[in-house]
Amino acid sequence: MSYFFIENIMDHYKNPRNMKIINEASSVFGDSNPTCGDTVKIFIKVNENKIEDIGFQGHGCALSMASSSLLTEMVKGSEMQDALKITESDLMRELGIKELGPNRIKCIALSVKTLKMAIIQYLSKVNHAGGGT
Ligand code: FES
Repeated sequence: MSYFFIENIMDHYKNPRNMKIINEASSVFGDSNPTCGDTVKIFIKVNENKIEDIGFQGHGCALSMASSSLLTEMVKGSEMQDALKITESDLMRELGIKELGPNRIKCIALSVKTLKMAIIQYLSKVNHAGGGT
């Protein structure tokens, strides 16, 4: 395990970025890891197909919270379609992790899948309303 990996994880874990509730969020989605019960809820505010603002709440292991924090930094200001393409591997690379066992990949996957569901939920709502962003 590299020093960079530990420092990066602990920095995001102790000083999480965008850990906030967005009251006027365009979409909110929460999920949990059934194997441990850790939870993440993601709030996105969308403007013209871009994630104008993003926040998260949750509790869990250092890796799941650090991943959530980093993910919010990565997608803030991005097009929703680009945010949908982010994978667990992208987060691992940003965190400086070369490989993880399946049990720990789930810690990273929690925030990735929660963000994707928040976006999909938003797109579904907009499409059913027949409007744009
Ligand atoms: Fe639960 Fe990491 S141990 S998400």
